[in-house]
Amino acid sequence: MKSSSKQLSEKQDLGTTASATLDVVVITLFPDVLTPYLNSSIVGRAVKSGQFRFHALQLRDFSLDKHRTVDSAPYGGGEGMVLRVDVLHRAWARACEIIAEKSTLKPRTVLLSPQGRLLTQESSQSLLEGMRPLILVCGHYEGVDERFIDLCVDEEWSVGDYVLTGGELPALVILDCLLRQVPGVLGNFDSFTSDSFQKDGLLKYPQYTRPETFEGHDVPDVLKSGNHGKVEKWRRLQSEERTARKRPDLARSPKRPSRDD
Ligand SMILES: C[S@@+](CC[C@H](N)C(=O)[O-])C[C@H]1O[C@@H](n2cnc3c(N)ncnc32)[C@H](O)[C@@H]1O
Repeated sequence: MKSSSKQLSEKQDLGTTASATLDVVVITLFPDVLTPYLNSSIVGRAVKSGQFRFHALQLRDFSLDKHRTVDSAPYGGGEGMVLRVDVLHRAWARACEIIAEKSTLKPRTVLLSPQGRLLTQESSQSLLEGMRPLILVCGHYEGVDERFIDLCVDEEWSVGDYVLTGGELPALVILDCLLRQVPGVLGNFDSFTSDSFQKDGLLKYPQYTRPETFEGHDVPDVLKSGNHGKVEKWRRLQSEERTARKRPDLARSPKRPSRDD
């Protein structure tokens, strides 16, 4: 099994260059939740530099009635309301048009769903394959009419085995996770390759900065030694130790090479 960082450097070799652009349309009832985050900090810089182009579509704009209704009660009875297939389909058709105006690549339509494939650092990389544009569909209420999934959705993705009220936070989580993997988005790409889960699936080693001493607690001597070989060795051991302690499930993962490898 290839390590995540190896897969990523291969992706770069295949042409995911510093000027790569990720085009995304998000279909949502709450575009105002998304835009402040996506325009801030590192993701916001990617927007400004053109590496990330996103467009939020308000689902209500695709309702045809004067109340701008987007949902209805489920057939067969039961709790809550379900997003209507006809409204979702119109929004999705518009999302496809928007993508086609910007890119020749076929978009991937992703429904955020607690029933979807679990997002991890490793699984997330498949969403960047070919830098295909993404149409992210945020559900709400009890979810979406199954016919929309059958007709339009390529993949369902989950951010964890718990249920949130809507797909907006999962959409932000996925976008943030993907964008920092696009070469050039992080100022220093090495900070991505040394992140937790990247190097052999290990957690990142402990880090220290100034002051050198705080309330009797010192920065470990080895980090001040100037000996890069010793620092590397110490960090590797620390990563292994804390992975075993904090995440024994990761430490036992068959993806992790044993120390003898
Ligand atoms: C209340 S949830 C619907 C859950 C659905 N009734 C079920 O039990 O599977 C409403 C919407 O939030 C989003 N959502 C909730 N939890 C999520 C998760 N863990 N990962 C991704 N999306 C989630 C989905 O878009 C979903 O359609």
